[in-house]
Amino acid sequence: MFYETEKNDHGLARPPFKSIAVPRPIGWISTLDENGNANLAPYSQFTNLTFDPPYILLSVNQGIDALRKDTTNNIERTGEFVHNMVTYDLMQQMNTTAAAFPPDVDEFEAAGLTKAPSVLVKPWRVAESPVQLECKYVQTIRLPGTSCVGSADIIIGKVVGVHIKDEFILPDGKLDILKIRPLARMGYSDYTCVDRIFTIEPSKAAGDNEERTLGLEGATGAFNK
Ligand SMILES: Cc1cc2nc3c(=O)[nH]c(=O)nc-3n(C[C@H](O)[C@H](O)[C@H](O)COP(=O)(O)O)c2cc1C
Repeated sequence: MFYETEKNDHGLARPPFKSIAVPRPIGWISTLDENGNANLAPYSQFTNLTFDPPYILLSVNQGIDALRKDTTNNIERTGEFVHNMVTYDLMQQMNTTAAAFPPDVDEFEAAGLTKAPSVLVKPWRVAESPVQLECKYVQTIRLPGTSCVGSADIIIGKVVGVHIKDEFILPDGKLDILKIRPLARMGYSDYTCVDRIFTIEPSKAAGDNEERTLGLEGATGAFNK
């Protein structure tokens, strides 16, 4: 089948698009408003952009009230946010924080989560999460929508600090992803989690060298020419 997005003539009972770029990691974004109220919400239009230095992005649609969400306002007004890795064990708490609470409601309290202080930024970290990224706001790219909800703000942040709980680091230095069990978003109301890993050695062509492998792994400091 083929359909044009402008016509939206897919003929399926359920919209297929969000089921195509899957699985998507879930950015669980904690911020503070200007009065210091804590905010926490999940964003699956979320990814890393690059690694040296590391940048990430989240894409925040407007609400059905055509207003920008608390996360967008807080990041642009305070210049800081934290991403907390979502795990299979934290799925219910993550889902609770997605409800449309008023700006002054603390989603940490609503979901029964514990606040941990950050080191380089002010927003709290989710203590129950195994990995957190402290981020400084860089810029917003505004995408016009065909509806009020379709209008989106792509928010780019620079990662300035990384927390990893020691119990999730393996003796060989890798993160223990099978123990973390990251939760990921699929289409509809479906989710998956990482419970299987396999390794593919990098393919090599003439001219490839060790540095290319280091780049694939995300090593920094190896390219200072
Ligand atoms: C798993 C999951 C992923 C979500 N991803 C997004 C997203 O990528 N963009 C978005 O605008 N809303 C997304 N939402 C909805 C927001 O979390 C929701 O609108 C939330 O109330 C926003 O809170 P805030 O106003 O405190 O920022 C998602 C919800 C869930 C449960």
